[in-house]
Amino acid sequence: MSSRNRVLLMAALLGLSTSLLAQTYQIGRKTTEAQIAPWVIDAFPSGAGLPAGKGTVGEGRKLYETRCAACHGMKGEGTLADRLVGGMDTLKSGRPVKTVGSYWPYATTLYDYVNRAMPYDSPQSFTPNEVYSVVAYVLHMNGIVGADATLDAATLPKVKMPNSAGFTTDPRPDVSNIPCTRDCK
Ligand code: HEC
Repeated sequence: MSSRNRVLLMAALLGLSTSLLAQTYQIGRKTTEAQIAPWVIDAFPSGAGLPAGKGTVGEGRKLYETRCAACHGMKGEGTLADRLVGGMDTLKSGRPVKTVGSYWPYATTLYDYVNRAMPYDSPQSFTPNEVYSVVAYVLHMNGIVGADATLDAATLPKVKMPNSAGFTTDPRPDVSNIPCTRDCK
């Protein structure tokens, strides 16, 4: 038997045995839309997936100083955790300093990341307004948005990041490049 056929046979047996198990012992159940919904929190560069709400640099400063600075430094210089600010003009040097400001190509990724994973000690505890605010403040510390900026689902995708042109797709001719996979413009 070829190895491909062996794999197909094993997959068929596995499928058969799991469906038998489910029928015989009532193990497992169909995942509902309601159960999946909390996991679907991706924010895309196009703005797709960003929630309603808005946040300001001023509100973000307060949140940042109380909820983020202990690990990332008062000015985003990094202490226990990553530096978040500065490093522009270092990417081509022998010692590139990669931060949100110098390296990340999309501002929406900052929303996605903070909303998903920060604060590290209580992830996903922020409201959309709080995430927009703290994102605005991190961008402001990087000199990317002004002190009076208000960010929401419409304005955040329009923020141009310093390194937005610094990424390239795979140039090999036999590689199909799909740089964006969903809801892209
Ligand atoms: C208890 C410490 C702690 C706190 C508080 C915290 N962070 Fe973090 N943060 C981390 C750690 C650790 C990482 C790296 C996580 C990893 O690589 O898996 C990180 C990573 C990040 C990154 C990605 C940096 C990069 O260049 O990869 C961002 C952005 C960030 N945090 C923002 C925030 C914001 C905004 C807050 C406040 C709302 C916050 N963090 C609060 C510990 C913390």
